[in-house]
Amino acid sequence: MKILVTGGAGYIGSHTLIELYAAGHTAVVVDNLYNSSKESLRRVAHIVGVDEIPFYEADIRDKNKLESVFSDHQFDCCIHFAGLKAVGESVAKPLEYYENNMNGTFVLLDAMRRHGCKNIIFSSSATVYGDPAEIPITEECPKGHCTNPYGQTKSMLEEVLKDVQTADTEWNVVLLRYFNPIGAHSSGTIGENPNGIPNNLMPYITQVAIGKRKELGIFGNDYDTPDGTGVRDYIHVVDLAKAHVCALKAISRKCGLGIYNIGTGHGYSVLDVVNAFIKVNGVNVPYKIQPRRPGDIATCYCNPAKAQAELGWKAQYGIEDMCRDSWNWQKNNPNGYQD
Ligand code: NAD
Ligand code: UFG
Repeated sequence: MKILVTGGAGYIGSHTLIELYAAGHTAVVVDNLYNSSKESLRRVAHIVGVDEIPFYEADIRDKNKLESVFSDHQFDCCIHFAGLKAVGESVAKPLEYYENNMNGTFVLLDAMRRHGCKNIIFSSSATVYGDPAEIPITEECPKGHCTNPYGQTKSMLEEVLKDVQTADTEWNVVLLRYFNPIGAHSSGTIGENPNGIPNNLMPYITQVAIGKRKELGIFGNDYDTPDGTGVRDYIHVVDLAKAHVCALKAISRKCGLGIYNIGTGHGYSVLDVVNAFIKVNGVNVPYKIQPRRPGDIATCYCNPAKAQAELGWKAQYGIEDMCRDSWNWQKNNPNGYQD
C-alpha cells in the first residue's frame, strides 16, 4: 500500500516508516518539522535501503500544500501522527494545542475525503481513559476526564473520527490508544529527540545517565502502588510501530471502526524502570524523590488482548530491551539528531 504518514519525521513516525518498508509498503511523509528534523528521515532511508523517503515539509493545516500532496499521489491509507504532544505545554497554550491538533485533523480529513482516501490510522493515547475506572484497562472501559488540553484533543478527535465513519461507512478508521512508548531502533541511529528539558521519564533517565542532567526527580513515592511510585505500561517503540502494520491489514479487510489498546499489559513503577536501566546498562542514575506532578495518576496499564485477537499483534520486547535500546540511542547520539 502507499501510505501518507503525517508527522513521519517524529519519534513514533520514524520507527513506523521502517516497519512499513519492511512489510513492503511505501510511504510519503508530510511534516512541518516543528518537533523533528529531516535527519531522522535520512537515517530511516539508510536503514530501509532506499535513496530517500518522499517528504513534503508542510503543515497539515495548510490546505493548498496538502492539496498538492494529494494531487501528486494516490494514497491507500493515512497514518496520522502529526500533532503537538506535550501535556504541560498544552495546559499553558491551550489554543495552540486545540488549533493544531483539531484543525490539522479537520483539514487532513477533508483532503482525504475529496481525494477518495477513506482509510486512517489515528495516534490516540491511554490518556483518553483519564483516571481509569478499571485496571487492567480494556477498550470497554469508559473514557474518563482528561485533565489537560492535549488529552482533550485526543479524546475529541476519536469522537470526530467515529462520526465520520458512521456518516460514511466507506471509511475505515483505526484508533490506536498507545500506552507509554520508550526504546529506540536497534541500530541506535534513530530515537526520541526531545527539545529542552524532557517531560517524560525515559528521556530524562537517559540524559541523567549521560551526564546532561544531575539527577532524576521521581514525582511522588506515596501512590497506592507496590513501591509508592507511579506504574505505567511501557511499550517498545518498535512493537508500537509494528502495530500500525497490523492495523493496515485490518483496514485492507475493511474493518470499519476499530479501537485498540497498544501496550504490553505489564505495569512497571518508576523505580522498576530506573533499576532495570541501571542493571541492563551498568550505568548510574542518581535520583531524588520529589512531590507528585499535578495531573498524574497512580496506575495505568492495559489488557492488550483485543489487539492480539483482532489485529494479530502482540508486543515482543520487555522492559530490559526498552532500557537497552533507549541507552544505545542516547549514548551514540548525545545531542540527538544534531550529532
Ligand atoms: P513527535 O513530536 O516526535 O512527532 C509528531 C510529529 O508531528 C513531529 O515530527 C512534528 O514536527 C509533526 N507535526 C506537529 N504538528 C504538525 C502539523 N500541524 N503539520 C505537520 N506536522 C506536524 O511525537 P511522537 O511521540 O512521535 O507522537 C506521534 C503521535 O502519537 C502524536 O499524535 C502523539 O500525540 C501520539 N502519542 C504519543 C505518545 C508518546 O508518549 N510519545 C503517547 C500517546 C500518543
Ligand atoms: N516521572 C518521574 N519523573 C520524570 C518524568 C516522569 O517520576 O522526570 C514519572 C511520572 O510521574 C509517571 C511516570 O514517570 O509516574 C511516567 O511519566 P511520563 O511523563 O513518561 O508519561 P505519562 O504516563 O505521564 O504520559 C505519557 C505521555 C502522554 C500520554 C500518556 C499515555 O506523555 O502523552 O503517556 O499514553 F498520554
